[in-house]
Amino acid sequence: MTTTSDPTTALKTVGGPRVGLPHLLKMRRDPIGHNDLMRAKYGEVLKLNVFGTTLYACYGMDAAEQILINRDRAFVNGPAWSHFIGPFFHRGLMLLDNEEHLHDRRIMQAAFTNDAMRRYHAVMVPHIRSGLEAWADVENPRMYELFKDLTLDLALETFVGVELDRAEKDRINKAFIAAVRAGTSIVRANVPGTPWAKGLAARKVLEDFFFKNLPAKRRDGGDDLFAQLCTATSEDGEVFSDADIVNQMIFLLMAAHDTTTITMSSMAYHLARFPEWQEKARQEALAATDSYDSITACELQDRIMKESLRLCSPVPSLPRVATREVAVNGYRIPEGAFVTVSPFYSHFDPEYWPNPTHFDPDRFAEPRREDHGHRMAFHGFGGGVHKCIGMFFAGVQVRAIFHELLTTYRWSVPAGYEWPLDLVALPFPRDRLPVTLEKL
Ligand code: HEM
Repeated sequence: MTTTSDPTTALKTVGGPRVGLPHLLKMRRDPIGHNDLMRAKYGEVLKLNVFGTTLYACYGMDAAEQILINRDRAFVNGPAWSHFIGPFFHRGLMLLDNEEHLHDRRIMQAAFTNDAMRRYHAVMVPHIRSGLEAWADVENPRMYELFKDLTLDLALETFVGVELDRAEKDRINKAFIAAVRAGTSIVRANVPGTPWAKGLAARKVLEDFFFKNLPAKRRDGGDDLFAQLCTATSEDGEVFSDADIVNQMIFLLMAAHDTTTITMSSMAYHLARFPEWQEKARQEALAATDSYDSITACELQDRIMKESLRLCSPVPSLPRVATREVAVNGYRIPEGAFVTVSPFYSHFDPEYWPNPTHFDPDRFAEPRREDHGHRMAFHGFGGGVHKCIGMFFAGVQVRAIFHELLTTYRWSVPAGYEWPLDLVALPFPRDRLPVTLEKL
C-alpha cells in the first residue's frame, strides 16, 4: 500500500464501529487478534470513538514511518501526549514539539553521551549486586515486582543521586508511582480520591523535592543524571533553567521506569519459558565480566532484549495530533484528529516477522536481520526526532542487571505457563510473573 500525504488525491473515508468502547476492551484482551479482525473489516485506518475522543488507529509500517518520521511536520506530540499525561509530566521532552523540542533535546543529549553511560554504569553496579543478593531471601518471588523495586532503587541512585533516609525514599517512590498511575485515571479531573487528584498532589511532592535539592546539585555536581542535567550544555552553549531541570527530571523518571521494568519482565518470562535460551545467555554472561565494555559486547543478550521488546512493546501505542488535514494509507484524516501508531501490534505483522508469536532471538542476527525488512519493522523505541533518548541507557541497565541475574540465579515457570498480560495502560503481567528462583 502506498502512502501519500497529498490531501488533493482521491482519498478513502475512514470506517470503524459506531461505538468504540467495546472494541477498545476487546483490543485490550486480544490486541493482535482483534486488530487483525478490525483491519480486515475496515481497512488500513480504523476510527474509534472512546472517552469522548476520536482516535484514528493507523496500521502498517508505512503509516508508522509517515507519522513518526513526520517529514512535513503534519503531526505533533504535545497535544496528543498531554491528553493522557500532561498535568503530571508537564513540559517533558516527549511532550514538546518543533523548535522547543529541538532546543531541549540538544541540551539533554549531553547527559546521554558514551562517557555519561560509563559513569551511570559505575554508579549502578554495586546497587545491582546488593539488590540481587537480597532476592535469595524473597519468599514466592515475582519477577515483575522484583524488577520494579530494583529499578526504582536504581533510579534514586543513578538518576537522583541524593542521600535519602528510608522514609524520604518511600515518600518519593510513592509520589512517583502515583504520578505515573494518574495518566490512566478514568476520571480526568481534580476530583478528591481519584488517581488524577493523587497524581497532581504527587507532582507537587516531586517538584518540591527537586527544587529543594537543585542548588546543592548545581554546586557539587556528580555522576547522576540530575547532576548531568544541571551542567548539560548544547553545542550552541545553551543550558537548562531550574524549572526545565525539574520538569525533565520528573519526566525522565517516568519514561525510564515502567519501560525498563516491562522489558526485563518480558526477557525473564521468555527465558523462563525457553530454558535453552536462558542457558545460552548464561554461557555468554559467564564468559564476560561485569565491566562496561564486557557487558555491552554481549550480543546474544542484545538480541534477547530486542526479541522480548518485539513480543511485548512497553509503550504499546504512540499518539499524535494531525496539525492539518492529511492522508495516511490513502485515507483522509481531519485536522486536529488523534492518530495512533502501535508498535505492539505492528511487531506481530507476519509480512516482516515470519511466525510472529514465536520467541526467536536469531531473527535479529545476520543473515536474517528481520528488523531490517522495513525502516519501521522494529519501532519499540519509536522513530524520528522523538526516538527514545534513553535507548542506550536502557540497554546498559538491562544488561548490567541480566549479567548479575544470569550468573547468580536460574529461574523457571511451570510447563505450559503463559503470562496474563494486562493492557489497560502499559503492559504488565497481572500475576506479577511468579517464578522459582534457584541460586547457582
Ligand atoms: C526499554 C526501555 C524503553 C523503551 C521501550 C522506551 C520507549 C520509548 C518510546 C517508544 C519513545 C517514543 C515516544 C513517542 O514517539 O511518542 C520514547 C521516548 C523517550 N524516552 Fe524512552 N524508552 C525506554 C527507556 C527509556 C529510558 C531508560 C529513558 C531515560 C533514561 C528514556 C527516556 C525517554 C525520553 C526522554 C523520551 C522522549 C524523547 C523525545 O521526545 O525526544 N526512555 N521511549
